[in-house]
Amino acid sequence: MPIIKDEKYLNLSFVPDKLLFRENEISKIRTALIEPLLGGISGTVILYGEPGTGKTTTAKHISRTTADLDCVYMNALSFPSLTALLREVVSTFTRLDQFSTYTISDLLRSISKIQERRGKGILLIIDESTNLMREDQAGLYSIMRASEIYSLRLSSILISLDDPYIIFRKKRTRSVSSYVPIKFSRYTKDELYMIIEDRAGSGLYPATYDDQIITMIADIAAQLGSARVAIELLQKAAYIAKHDQSESISPDDIRAARAMINPYFTESKLNGLEQEDLVLLLSTAFCLKDGLYATLSNVMARYAVLAESYGMQPMDRQKFYRVASRLETYGLLESRLEGRGDRKGVEKVLMINDVPLDALSEKIESILARLP
Ligand SMILES: Nc1ncnc2c1ncn2[C@@H]1O[C@H](COP(=O)(O)OP(=O)(O)OP(=O)(O)O)[C@@H](O)[C@H]1O
Ligand SMILES: [Mg+2]
Repeated sequence: MPIIKDEKYLNLSFVPDKLLFRENEISKIRTALIEPLLGGISGTVILYGEPGTGKTTTAKHISRTTADLDCVYMNALSFPSLTALLREVVSTFTRLDQFSTYTISDLLRSISKIQERRGKGILLIIDESTNLMREDQAGLYSIMRASEIYSLRLSSILISLDDPYIIFRKKRTRSVSSYVPIKFSRYTKDELYMIIEDRAGSGLYPATYDDQIITMIADIAAQLGSARVAIELLQKAAYIAKHDQSESISPDDIRAARAMINPYFTESKLNGLEQEDLVLLLSTAFCLKDGLYATLSNVMARYAVLAESYGMQPMDRQKFYRVASRLETYGLLESRLEGRGDRKGVEKVLMINDVPLDALSEKIESILARLP
């Protein structure tokens, strides 16, 4: 008995035709941004909220259901700078000389020429732009004011994890022009239940899951209010059941799925680590007290100090990379590349996302104290 009817619906990047529980957000975006842009007035909205609350999906849904505009979706994390991102925007319309260096103004002027030719307003979606908003406000400002400066009919949807008010206030900047913030709240358990029920209905054969399975997934995902966690659990549990050639998805499949996406820092898992692994993890935990990400250089500096106090040798960069990726394979660390602001390139950053840092540090310190 097969489990999966259509895996498309289990995919995290799937954008449903009808987005449940986001009607208000969608209609706000339409009135604040889309309708004005169709009438020639540019603006900016910033969607913000915790992971898995539907920001990306909502923005993509808007761009898919809006006619008469040129919609461009970009993920800021894929570019080292805003300039690189804008180059890509221009390249989606026309060929760019890859060896020329362009400034943001050059690029906005090119977009303006393209627009004259095409005669449509442009909707630019910049996803994962939390860092951009922190680090390149001048660049963002030129985009937000592009209508005044370059007579561009361009509106933007910026997507961020953090409240833009807090980001911009911290910098005490005045250089950010006005924008409409739209907060995405955590989904409730009932909402998650309905989202998952809907997805399972399209993606799985009816006899392969029941009410109990959907409830269990909604329960777990409700701890974070995240539709992403819910869909990932459904997807992984379905594949585990399929792999085991089961007739249907069982609660144990969901437990296994949960352990896959959210590995527990059990004592035994930490006990199996080398001393250098433990100290690297501890250094990361310390650095993360200052923010969502810890840059590799900061963790290395911290490691050097800690290693000395434990009487260990320092590690060179290569070794450091190796140990960090080993911890990643164990599911104890996560990493990604983060932009360092305009034209400064990208850097590897480390994250620990599924265990409270204090509990982790305490555990590691007690293991280290017992080592010979
Ligand atoms: N209202 C909804 N109805 C149906 N599916 C949804 C809804 N909201 C989110 N999803 C699904 O949940 C998953 C996560 O949503 P999405 O990627 O949009 O979240 P996000 O807010 O962008 O998260 P992150 O900040 O981590 O990028 C996607 O697979 C999406 O299809
Ligand atoms: Mg997203």
